[in-house]
Amino acid sequence: MKILAIETSCDETAAAVVEKGVKILSNVVASSAAMHEKYGGIVPEVAARKQLESIIPVIKEALDQAQLNYQSIDSLAVTVGPGLIGSLLVGVETAKTIAFVTGKPLIPVNHVLAHMYANLVDSQPTTNNLQQVQFPAISLVVSGGHTELYLMESIKKLKWLGGTLDDAAGEAFDKTARLLGYGNRGGIAIQEAASKLKVKSAKLKVRLPRPMIDDESLSFSFSGLKTAILREWKKYPHPNQALVQAFAYEVQEAITDVLVTKTLRGTELYKAKSILLSGGVAANIRLREKFNLQLTTRLAGRQADNLPLLVPPAALCTDNAVYIGSYAYFRGKPVDWHEVNALPDLTVEITD
Ligand code: KG4
Ligand code: ZN
Repeated sequence: MKILAIETSCDETAAAVVEKGVKILSNVVASSAAMHEKYGGIVPEVAARKQLESIIPVIKEALDQAQLNYQSIDSLAVTVGPGLIGSLLVGVETAKTIAFVTGKPLIPVNHVLAHMYANLVDSQPTTNNLQQVQFPAISLVVSGGHTELYLMESIKKLKWLGGTLDDAAGEAFDKTARLLGYGNRGGIAIQEAASKLKVKSAKLKVRLPRPMIDDESLSFSFSGLKTAILREWKKYPHPNQALVQAFAYEVQEAITDVLVTKTLRGTELYKAKSILLSGGVAANIRLREKFNLQLTTRLAGRQADNLPLLVPPAALCTDNAVYIGSYAYFRGKPVDWHEVNALPDLTVEITD
């Protein structure tokens, strides 16, 4: 079963061919990030216009790389939401047109749920990730627009456990990056700046809250942190490089502390047997480090080996179409193309 998957929910235009949900036959991602840099953020209209131009070449490239054509694929999958309406429409209408012309089945996909299936994909031809996932698994999806925890009871059965009450973790990273002068480079810029911090006294100066870290629920909140960052930053009218790095360091510490604590709380509550991370923020090196550290030291009586931590390589954490194809294979259902629509507000709080 070879699925041609299409993803255009935000500013990326992506297409991939995935075989049996795990084997990457091709993976093409075109980003309009450089253009957004010019406008100081993602301008939905600009993103959609750029995606209109690149969607066909990107799909063509994905088919070429896989040495396939529209006739030789078995099925199509497309992100229908949540996301920006103009961007979603580009992918959805293109997929519908291909389905109409070729008669191939079309599988609509929820972008946020699909993120976690990046963990099931074989990132190298020799890996077999699927075998490592032990159910029930706790799955943290942490991206620019979402911070959600799920219980994966089986490869198909997902239960939403909690999510952010306001902003996503990625948004806190992105807003901080802008505040510190890194434009639209987002979390990766914060990660780089934090890793350069050498002056310990600067590090100690900046102290930020860990919102809801002691709260028993599996909900998150990052808008207060954003306000706290801004308030703290305003105390320093002439910041030097060490201070910028100290801010980046502390912001990264605050966000990752909360993400790790909540995920481990969920792990214990639901007696999960493995932990899955996904979404753009899961690319964060410090987050991975902290999970590994906690797993080896904190989970009393349980061997770290018994609780595998799965994290996709960074390129599969950020938006791409590979996990759209994987999700479609394991959990998707074909729908008559007439019935497939872009759903910008599609819910992620599923319980089936
Ligand atoms: O999953 P994604 O590519 O798009 C959405 O579905 O939102 O996630 C993008 C988010 C952005 O907020 C970006 O700043 C963040 O992922 N991100 C990172 C890192 N790489 C990307 N955050 C922290 N550390 C990183 N290394
Ligand atoms: Zn995403």
